[in-house]
Amino acid sequence: MADLDDVQEAKNYHTDIPQKSEAFFLKGSNSLDWGMKNRLARIFNPESGRTVMLAIDHGYFQGPTTGLERVDISILPLVPYADTLMLTRGILRTVIPPSTSKSIVLRVSGGTSILKELSNEDIAVDIEDSARLNVCAMAVQVFIGGEHERQSITNMTKMVDMGTRYGIPTLAVTAVGKDMARDARYFRLATRICAELGAHYVKTYYVDKGFDTVCASCPVPIVMAGGKKLPELDALTMAYNAVQGGAAGVDMGRNIFQSEAPVAMIKAVRAVVHNNETPSKAFDLYNTLKNQK
Ligand code: R5P
Repeated sequence: MADLDDVQEAKNYHTDIPQKSEAFFLKGSNSLDWGMKNRLARIFNPESGRTVMLAIDHGYFQGPTTGLERVDISILPLVPYADTLMLTRGILRTVIPPSTSKSIVLRVSGGTSILKELSNEDIAVDIEDSARLNVCAMAVQVFIGGEHERQSITNMTKMVDMGTRYGIPTLAVTAVGKDMARDARYFRLATRICAELGAHYVKTYYVDKGFDTVCASCPVPIVMAGGKKLPELDALTMAYNAVQGGAAGVDMGRNIFQSEAPVAMIKAVRAVVHNNETPSKAFDLYNTLKNQK
């Protein structure tokens, strides 16, 4: 019932305390709208400023990848330890329980397979479906230097425009063609183009030399792509070097779900990403957890 008589007199307007206005914790994201920021804050942990994204979207161009033959069996046990799941709407709707509180980054580009030219992609999900699925970002592949470079860039810019209408961020995923040099110069070019054209964050591969310059010259957060399966210590070292070089986390797939002990591996990756654990200590953690199994 309304307090019409205003009998509670003890009101305190704290007129001496100015309302706080805090800067948003993510690089380059301070001028975004509330919904965008809130979604990004569900991907990136506001305390560490970083994320562990678990990438399981491989099937959209290569079918049942090793480790993803049965997502219900191999991936659901890993979900509690990821900050975010990166996947397709097919797997989301068929396998991931809607009761999950994990943020979702939805793969929205597609249309090609490993049997054809991969860069010939289109936008493969309507923005309204991303909104219906309550996703926190939409991932689009960008093939800088690829055969269909222009088409992939405009796929991304269209998603940025549509996502801006709905408050959904766009993740640009830099894809490297077979014949292209994977070096800092290439990734500075690719990531910067994505950010300049509006991507809210960018996924890119790690390079041994100059990865810090890739992060420094990109005005939005970078997450490191995992790539092909490496020995666990090497993958943890790569993740460590990436976050120490300025990455705001990782988006790893095969190096987690193809590990001999995937739960132990994702926990070790979390230690590196969120707690700055050294590779050797994270590897010890991995082995301890693996042997407990
Ligand atoms: C590739 O660009 C896709 O996004 C992949 O399907 C996936 O994200 C790659 O993950 P990873 O290389 O860590 O297995």
